[in-house]
Amino acid sequence: MKRTHTCGELTDKDINKKVTLCGWCSTRRDHGGVIFIDLRDRYGITQVVFDPSFNPESHKTAEKLGREDVIQVSGVVKHRKKDMENPKLKTGAIEIFVETIEILSESAVPPIEVDDRVVTHEDTRLKHRYLDLRRPLMQQNIAIRHRAVKAVRDYFDNLGFLEIETPILAKSTPEGARDYLVPSRIHPGKCYALPQSPQIFKQLLMVSGFDRYFQIARCFRDEDLRADRQPEFTQIDVEMSFIDEDDIIGVIEGMLKHAWRIVLNKDIKTPFPRITYDEAISKYGLDKPDTRFEMHLADVTEIAKDSNFEVFTKAIKQRGIVKCINAKSCASFSRTVIEELTSFVAIYGSKGLAWMKVTEKGLESSIVKFFDEKVQKQIIKAANAKKDDLLFFVADANHKVVNDSLGYLRIEIARRLKLIDGNHFSFVWVTDFPLLEWSEEEQKYNAMHHPFTSPKDEDIKFLDKAPEKARAKAYDIVLNGTEIGGGSIRIHRSDVQSKMFSILGMSKEEAEQRFGFLLEAFKYGTPPHGGIALGVDRIVAMITSNESIREVIAFPKNKAAESLMENAPSEVSEKQLQELHIKLDFVKEAVNVVFGKIRDVLNKEKIEYEVLEHKPVFTSKEAAEVRGTELKQGTKALICKTEEGFIQAVVSGAKELDIEKLQKFTLYKKIELANAKEVRQATGCNIGSVPPFGNLFELKVYFDKSIVENEIVAFNAGQHTKSIKMKAKDLVRVVNPVVGEFGK
Ligand code: AMO
Ligand code: AMP
Repeated sequence: MKRTHTCGELTDKDINKKVTLCGWCSTRRDHGGVIFIDLRDRYGITQVVFDPSFNPESHKTAEKLGREDVIQVSGVVKHRKKDMENPKLKTGAIEIFVETIEILSESAVPPIEVDDRVVTHEDTRLKHRYLDLRRPLMQQNIAIRHRAVKAVRDYFDNLGFLEIETPILAKSTPEGARDYLVPSRIHPGKCYALPQSPQIFKQLLMVSGFDRYFQIARCFRDEDLRADRQPEFTQIDVEMSFIDEDDIIGVIEGMLKHAWRIVLNKDIKTPFPRITYDEAISKYGLDKPDTRFEMHLADVTEIAKDSNFEVFTKAIKQRGIVKCINAKSCASFSRTVIEELTSFVAIYGSKGLAWMKVTEKGLESSIVKFFDEKVQKQIIKAANAKKDDLLFFVADANHKVVNDSLGYLRIEIARRLKLIDGNHFSFVWVTDFPLLEWSEEEQKYNAMHHPFTSPKDEDIKFLDKAPEKARAKAYDIVLNGTEIGGGSIRIHRSDVQSKMFSILGMSKEEAEQRFGFLLEAFKYGTPPHGGIALGVDRIVAMITSNESIREVIAFPKNKAAESLMENAPSEVSEKQLQELHIKLDFVKEAVNVVFGKIRDVLNKEKIEYEVLEHKPVFTSKEAAEVRGTELKQGTKALICKTEEGFIQAVVSGAKELDIEKLQKFTLYKKIELANAKEVRQATGCNIGSVPPFGNLFELKVYFDKSIVENEIVAFNAGQHTKSIKMKAKDLVRVVNPVVGEFGK
């Protein structure tokens, strides 16, 4: 071992011990010749002291230390001076007087601060995630995630559940998002789908007799991203046989209780309250109610019928509703605030936001004249309004618009009024979901949860004539207004399952093609079963009080589903695409445009050239071979990034670009090679197929003299499979580059 202790461990019980620590130099302070370094590792921070009178040699080395250098120090644990103690740190009473130091690794100047107090733009953090993860807060998030998942595993293990892995390369699953597809090389034209959840496999495991299954499962969904959505995320996936809804609910309550105790040392009260879907929508407007505060929605449709306010009466005539919320003691809200809130509800489709202030004299607003005294009294009663309250109303023919608008407005107002206790965990089960939802767009029913969810026994009678009335044996677990999990009791009979598919508008053939294997399996003795899945990322984000699940995932994607660190997704080589029998339609179009543009220019200038078609080439050497030209006749047309934007630098195929020389020549302060994405952005071409025609892309072009020394040059004309061969002096004439010397 290179160390005797970690940086988070030594206290005044260790005084005078000789110790060796390793870690990163976090901060350095120079106090009149004595150097103090905060040495950091995963476990904490220890102050190490280089005193020239104690050890001049190590002090000399310490003078060279920079941020994030990795060092090993040996020395003696001493008490800090009384006024130098830091009670906030576990190690705050001591410091190490260093005898020997070894620099294990020097750090270049880090592109981001490894400091929780410094706010860095998220894209920059994600680009250098390995440094961002060094921050104590991030280390803590990741450690908590580990502990939470471990607690869950232990809990299920104790109850006799088996953790079983299910395939990642599989067939499309029916969770309702878009699939990520993986094309098959050996089966041209066919694809695997990455699982949106292990749903079908876990049901098959029940058929196989593994009556208690769980898995910490990675799921993939191609959907619009938000703070609480990632394209890949992790579920605690559970399935059980011979159970009913209460059994699943009980097991999950136990799991959450256990996890909260282990991770936060907090006792959460079980059983959690339950609320039906209908009640949730009625009171909270949303099926994921934040139950930490009240401000319930009141339905005033019946009352508003008797008003003369056309906005309301018209909506009601169209079978719409009018609801309101009471913002307690908010009569002082300014017009500006009300306007902001009106824009806020517009996000959810509301055409406006009517309001009334409650005063001593009664209701006050530009619209109260449309409400006679009796109606006003009824409104006051329905909203339980008192003096100084502010009532907000939304009316719409579409019930969802009303419920969403007021549901989210309720949360927005609570946030503004700081009604929400950030330290409180308010769990609630939402039950009795509708089985189906009608899609106006597709003019058909879709499953509200997924197509394997069982209807309630007493509602099976509706399936034939009024399927929208059927409720499901489905349940969601909601924490502080976030859906952290959802599940259902499944259909376990193949005849009922077939019927469900037909209600969902799936033909027999389609059902057979997509889910035939499941229907087949159900024929051979299927136990009644059900399950649930909970989002690990969301749960850990809630435990750690983070708004975004990206804070609790080591390497998340950004809001555009990209990983900026390794630059994914990225282009793949023509060769890989060919192996997968994939032709890219949009790329072909883009590069054909480039090829066409070059040809147009050359034709217009009446320049002689030759077009060569060949197998795809990616390097200068390959290109020279297929073209039958010399290496030096090829062009490396490189897109470079400068502080002022992109430029193009072109050197002969036999040379490399000397960035330093180019910098001196062009006087740009910063030049670096563009990455594949930036190359596409700047030129529309894939890396390796960019022609030396930067002017076509409105780039400033620099030619190394190795290009003009040739008589003939040849280059890929926007495609890996097409080259143009022409005289160098003609190329210079049409491109009009600045010529210099920056090859090596
Ligand atoms: P469902 O689709 O409701 O159910 O997903 C269960 C839970 O997974 C989490 N979750 C997500 N977390 C982060 N990013 C995402 N894109 C994302 N999508 C979902 C949520 C959600 O509550 N197979 C069923 C479960 C079952 O019936 O047993 C399923 O996947 O916390
Ligand atoms: P108008 O007569 O259209 O200017 O609307 C008068 C008031 O009613 C304004 O405060 C609007 O914001 C509000 N309003 C308009 N449409 C709606 C609606 N659908 N629901 C609630 N209030 C509305």
